[in-house]
This record gives sequence, C-alpha cells and structure tokens, in this order.
Amino acid sequence: MKAITVVPGKPDEVRVEDVPEPSPEQGSLLVEGLLLGICGTDADIVDEGYGWLPPGRDRMVIGHESLGVVVEAPPDSGFALGDHVSGIVRRPDPVPCPQCAVGEWDFCGNGRYTERGIKQLDGYGSALWRVEPEFAVRLDPALGDCGVLLEPASVLAKAWEQTDRIFTRASARPTTALVTGAGPIGLLAALMGVQRGLDVHVQDLNDSGDKPALVRDLGATFGVGDVRGSGVRPDVVIECTGHGPLVFKLAEIVAPNAVVCLAGISNSGVTNTIPTDDVNKKLVLENTVLFGTVNAARRHYEQAAEDLARADHGWLERLITRRVPMDAYADALVKKDEDVKVVVDLRA
Ligand code: BGC
Repeated sequence: MKAITVVPGKPDEVRVEDVPEPSPEQGSLLVEGLLLGICGTDADIVDEGYGWLPPGRDRMVIGHESLGVVVEAPPDSGFALGDHVSGIVRRPDPVPCPQCAVGEWDFCGNGRYTERGIKQLDGYGSALWRVEPEFAVRLDPALGDCGVLLEPASVLAKAWEQTDRIFTRASARPTTALVTGAGPIGLLAALMGVQRGLDVHVQDLNDSGDKPALVRDLGATFGVGDVRGSGVRPDVVIECTGHGPLVFKLAEIVAPNAVVCLAGISNSGVTNTIPTDDVNKKLVLENTVLFGTVNAARRHYEQAAEDLARADHGWLERLITRRVPMDAYADALVKKDEDVKVVVDLRA
C-alpha cells in the first residue's frame, strides 16, 4: 500500500512509497485512509527534526490528523463497516504514570508517551491504517471531509475545557474572548468561543485569503495588526500563533481576572528584553492566569466531534483551502498565504 514516509530533519527524504499493510498488532480496526490534515508540527518534523523514529526504524509514516472509513471491525469493537473515524494521536506511557493510567495521556508526567506520526509510532498517512477501537473516534457522517478537522479541534476542545475549569475559581465569568492567529487552530478556537456565547475577536498580522470573511461569518470580529492596537480588553485569550513576545503583550492588555491559554509554539528564535517586574506585578495584582496546553484526551476528541457536528458544515468546509494528492506532500508542507487547512487525499 502507498504511504508517506519521512526522516525527521531531512526534507529531501520525503517519499511516497509502497510499504506492507499494517499488522493487526496496531489495532483491530482496519481503516481506509480518506484525508490527512497537515499542520505546523509536520513541517517541524520534516524540516526541523522534531519527531522521533519508531525504535529500530530508519523511516516513519507521517500524519496525525486523520479521517478514514472502517473496512474491517471485530463484532465487539463498537464500530461498524463504513463508519467514519479519526484516530487519537497520543498513546499512554508504558509505566504508566498516574495520569496516563487514567486516560489523561495529554498530562503525561514522564514524557514517555508516544504519538502516531510524531513520536515513535507510524502515523495515519497511508492508504490503509489500523487503530485500537479505544483510540478511534466515530464522526457524524454528515461532516464528510470536515471530519479531518477532528484532531486539531480536539486540541481546542481541551484548551477551552481547561479555560472553563480555571474560571470556576471565582464568580468572575468571561464575556469577551480574543483569539490570536487566524489559522486553522485560531479559527476553530473562535468557533468554540462563539459556541460558548462569547463576544469573540480574532486578531492576525495579515488579512490574506478568506480569513477575515471566515471570522465575520462566525459572528466574530476580525482585527489586523498589533494586538495592543486592537482596543480589545479580553477576559479570555486563546493564543494560537506561538509567537513568544506576544504572550507578554497579551499580559498587558487583558482585563482583570483574565485567563490566557497558550496553545501554539514556534521556532522563530527571537529573544527580547522584557520588563519582568512590571509583567509580574500586572499578573499578580489582576489575578491573571497564563497557562499552556498540548494534545488531547479521549473526552476532548468526543467533545470536539460534538462541536464540529453542531457547527455550520458549509463554514467548516471553507477551512479546507487546499487538497493535494499524496505525491505532492512535500510541496504541501510549504505554507501559502491564503492557506487555512491543507489536506492530502489518501486515495489520490
Ligand atoms: C498535535 C498534538 C501533539 C503535539 C506535540 C500537535 O501538532 O496536534 O497532538 O501532542 O503536536 O507533538
């Protein structure tokens, strides 16, 4: 079968090659791959050497944003032929640590977790893949191709869940949300903010492509340029750019009792001089919470599946701005200004 294989840190080594079909030890569900989403982590793996090969292997199947259709399922699996599914990315560490032992692998405490297509396990970038039923999530068939958005949506479902939980510390409730970055992560964060009834503002450094219209069509407000010029004083921020200096700008502009959720990372290598005492004072005197979040547990995938199912499917479809065949994977890693989500057609 055809698979997209890579060597972390070697952009010239991206290949589409014939590999053996996955063996049943990888899971009792056999899935025909439909679409594979591409994100910054994939570019980091290929270009920057993030990612870890499976032990004893010199190449890995890439891909962690999956959508496929079940073609083989044992009767007791809870899945049926034809179900649309997406595979969970992370697997618990083998110890397991106390969090992994209760299904909270997204809070793994010893770093020995593995991740499909990222850390020591083959990903979902192949014509066929296998998954354990407990790591597969069924999608509303009405979502069609938009089911490929489940994995990035799961990361935001966790970000919002954690944010909501932090707000239970006092009676203060958020009304205004700011999302920084209008890429796929930012737009999904905005969707979930709107679904919570918040007044959502999305700020980006450029207004290329369909992003401003996508934000407006959600009922949110699009802003362009430096966040300090936006005039927004948010109670909650979902930071999706990963731009380090922005974190400190956000600390300046948030309302008292705000929660700032950091959901992105970047490799820009910038270093800055920060007035650390001033930032500290502002955070302390206004009860600000700054926290980071990564990955997602099963409950977040299930929440995300519900959130996507009740979203406007026409709007979700507009997030998929480019669709490429497997052979074009290497090109697809290069981001174009107008891209929102680029997906690979695993049948082409
Ligand atoms: C994935 C997460 C993963 C993280 C770190 C992200 O792109 O969405 O599931 O935990 O990368 O490897």
